[in-house]
Amino acid sequence: MTQLAIEVGALAKVFGGLAAVDGVSLSVPAGERRVLIGPNGAGKTTLFHCITGTLKPTRGSVRLFGRDVTRDPEHRRTALGMGRTFQITNVFPDLTLLENMTLAIVGTDRRKWVMHRAVAAFADVRRQALEGLEAVGLAGRAAQPVKLVSYGERRQLELALALNTRPKVLFLDEPCAGLSPSERQRISKMIAGLPRDITLVMIEHDMDVALGLADRVTVLHQGRVILEGTPDEVRANAEVREVYFGHG
Ligand SMILES: Nc1ncnc2c1ncn2[C@@H]1O[C@H](COP(=O)(O)OP(=O)(O)OP(=O)(O)O)[C@@H](O)[C@H]1O
Ligand SMILES: [Mg+2]
Repeated sequence: MTQLAIEVGALAKVFGGLAAVDGVSLSVPAGERRVLIGPNGAGKTTLFHCITGTLKPTRGSVRLFGRDVTRDPEHRRTALGMGRTFQITNVFPDLTLLENMTLAIVGTDRRKWVMHRAVAAFADVRRQALEGLEAVGLAGRAAQPVKLVSYGERRQLELALALNTRPKVLFLDEPCAGLSPSERQRISKMIAGLPRDITLVMIEHDMDVALGLADRVTVLHQGRVILEGTPDEVRANAEVREVYFGHG
């Protein structure tokens, strides 16, 4: 039997009187690429936040590779292999892309950073930082301060920082939002090229990108899962066409 990377059980998140997430159960096998779609306000981002630990669910459970993490704080889930894109507010705008990557690596490295090792280790870290930027197509921008690069390049940096945590499961919430068509294409290609052993759970509004990338799709509507299936099954489903595209 395939191992489950993520197992969400009857999860709910209530804001005031509103159930933004209303009893979602979801299993994502290890290695799968799952895309979450649904109209605005469907509860996709709230569900993500409950899974990654940004928000505390009102009810329900979250398991990561079989381990109950429902009550674990965000940083613990990160240490256990749950990756997500960092908000760009977490980077230093005056520092270069390379410096930001370097700091992120030093910050997540489990080795002790003692002074006498620092010099020898620095070359290693620098190489790793450059490789991280290279992996998302940013090697040529390494020396630029973050505040001077384009919005699209910032999104690429977010991806590099997320990958730096060596996630086993990566959560991406609309990684192409706000990008130009060419940047969109670049980022979606990059995501498609991620190693297959990283389980991917992604929210995506662009149906072509979503259905092109997904092994399976989960459709959320008013806080509930209304369909889960292959891209072909989702394309063919009348209810999805109705709620998602607003026509039959
Ligand atoms: N912090 C909050 N406090 C109160 N209500 C919230 C909060 N966050 C989200 N909501 C509400 O919960 C519902 C689900 O929002 P959510 O952002 O999860 O939807 P979404 O599917 O990600 O939408 P979009 O496609 O627009 O990003 C919405 O009605 C939203 O207004
Ligand atoms: Mg959202």
